[in-house]
Amino acid sequence: MIIDTHAHIDFDEYANKFDEMLEAANNNHVEKIIIPAVEPSTFDRILKLAEKYENIYCAMGIHPSEAKTYNEEVEQIIIQNCKNPKVIAIGECGLDYYWDKSFNDIQKEVFKKQIKLANELNKTLIVHDREAHLDTITLLKENILPKTPVVMHCFSGSYEFGMECIKEGYFLAFGGVSTFKNAKKVHEVIEKMPLEFLLLETDSPYLTPEPFRGKENQPAYLKYVVEKIAQIRGLSTTEIEEITTRNAKRAFKI
Ligand code: NI
Repeated sequence: MIIDTHAHIDFDEYANKFDEMLEAANNNHVEKIIIPAVEPSTFDRILKLAEKYENIYCAMGIHPSEAKTYNEEVEQIIIQNCKNPKVIAIGECGLDYYWDKSFNDIQKEVFKKQIKLANELNKTLIVHDREAHLDTITLLKENILPKTPVVMHCFSGSYEFGMECIKEGYFLAFGGVSTFKNAKKVHEVIEKMPLEFLLLETDSPYLTPEPFRGKENQPAYLKYVVEKIAQIRGLSTTEIEEITTRNAKRAFKI
């Protein structure tokens, strides 16, 4: 059984087929799914799903591209929502210099605040880092407490950067990109990293693995990621399932 540690299944795409999507996930060994938050208007619907379904957990936080929506009031809502035991993490939060570099300073400030929230509320931190590796790890090193687990969602750095993260105890999560032929850097990290820091995720509805690349993603497709990682590491899919599930339970304390 596997855990999809990052799937936006609260998005409208799934509204009319939610139970089918969950059933397909279950039929493909996905036993638990974690929904990260993106911006405040999605908090309630995410919480409702986590409360309704035993195998769904969630995070509360603000995506770097939505950093301008973070304020004192939103922070109080996050703190309040974190009292719910199904909220197991803060995120996804971090830095994204790919889409829009015009408010990097706001992104950094909001990331820092959420690192501190994870520390104070005893939650795991789900980190989104896109083309911002140096600033991301600098802010993490300066602000994270050793007791706070960190998950580098959709890890896209080099092997060297990956090892720098692992030295700090951070987990690296991989999804559909690992099945892309041209993802040489990602393949190298997966091939050489210590397996006890590897997590699985789909980032549904994005980053759909081969052979469905370009179409809408769903947690059931995690099996293609498992197959690819098993192939890279020369292990069985069962071994990859067991190792990554054990890691996810450690990373999210579930
Ligand atoms: Ni995401």
